[in-house]
Amino acid sequence: MSIINLEMKETALKRIEESTNVLEIEQVRVELLGKKGTITELSKKMKEISNEEKREFGQKLNELRDSIIEAIENKKEILKNIEQLSKLKDETLDISLPGRKVNKGGEHPITQTTNYLKEIFMNMGFDVSEGPEIEKTEYNFDALNIPESHPSRDYQDTFYIKENEVLRTHTSPVQVRYMLENKPPFRMIAPGKVYRSDYDISHTPMFHQLEGLMVGENISFANLKAILTEFVKKVFGETKVRFRPHFFPFTEPSAEMDVECVICKGQGCRLCKNSGWLEIMGCGMVDPEVLKAVGYDHEKYTGFAFGMGIERVTMLRFGIDDLRAFFENDVRFLRQFN
Ligand code: PHE
Repeated sequence: MSIINLEMKETALKRIEESTNVLEIEQVRVELLGKKGTITELSKKMKEISNEEKREFGQKLNELRDSIIEAIENKKEILKNIEQLSKLKDETLDISLPGRKVNKGGEHPITQTTNYLKEIFMNMGFDVSEGPEIEKTEYNFDALNIPESHPSRDYQDTFYIKENEVLRTHTSPVQVRYMLENKPPFRMIAPGKVYRSDYDISHTPMFHQLEGLMVGENISFANLKAILTEFVKKVFGETKVRFRPHFFPFTEPSAEMDVECVICKGQGCRLCKNSGWLEIMGCGMVDPEVLKAVGYDHEKYTGFAFGMGIERVTMLRFGIDDLRAFFENDVRFLRQFN
């Protein structure tokens, strides 16, 4: 009987052939050729064999071992190549691929307009100042000559934080803060967020204003008209303006400034409600009561103030007809301003 037969060889070679990676083939190598492996176990049987058979047995065993070693080496080589190739494929850098586009953010149209308006006034010598959005009623109302009984102090319009603290309803309290900290003559603007409890097609609870104030000796309504007309010309080009009498508690006399309708050029259309004019800001000569409240000599100093809605200016500049678009943050809308 022969211990080593053809079947044995076939089984061993099949095990080798079926290995799928370098690690597995190493396991198979140990199983077949290792210290406790099949071949070693077989060679131990040498003792049990008769001398006549030893020669043949030895030859067959060597043959078997050689063919196993060869098969393992071959298979290992193949597997290594395969692994190398897939590694190369994974790590390949295709420098011809187009780069990934980085989506850059842009400035919100309100921010753009604010910066644009600031620039115009800075070029006319105005200082830029800011105040807190949570404001004392004293600065938001009292110092501005808005009496306790005034409807704008009502809970319906004003967001109260405490009895004497509100979300500022306009940027005018920055006038007060600025005057308390500076001496005339000066000219300043104050852009920022303001809050009113109001929400419909043309009102949002938060919006932006730009305030302006110029105080000195001999400042007159003529100065107000000159500066504001120049300003409008810079924003809207050569266009007609008009001043309509109005009332504000903190200015006297007061006016509203209109520009000729940017759409119909005064002919009358939906935007200007057929009047041919668009209101653009409130303004007036600083009321002596306001100057007194901050300790200024109201015999010596006079001044003018103005306040405009930045949303409104932005809508007119870019032809936007819905205020809500500013706050919905629809990127399709916002991207048009990049
Ligand atoms: N504060 C006023 C408002 O919010 C605007 C204004 C400012 C009017 C300065 C006159 C002078 O409506």
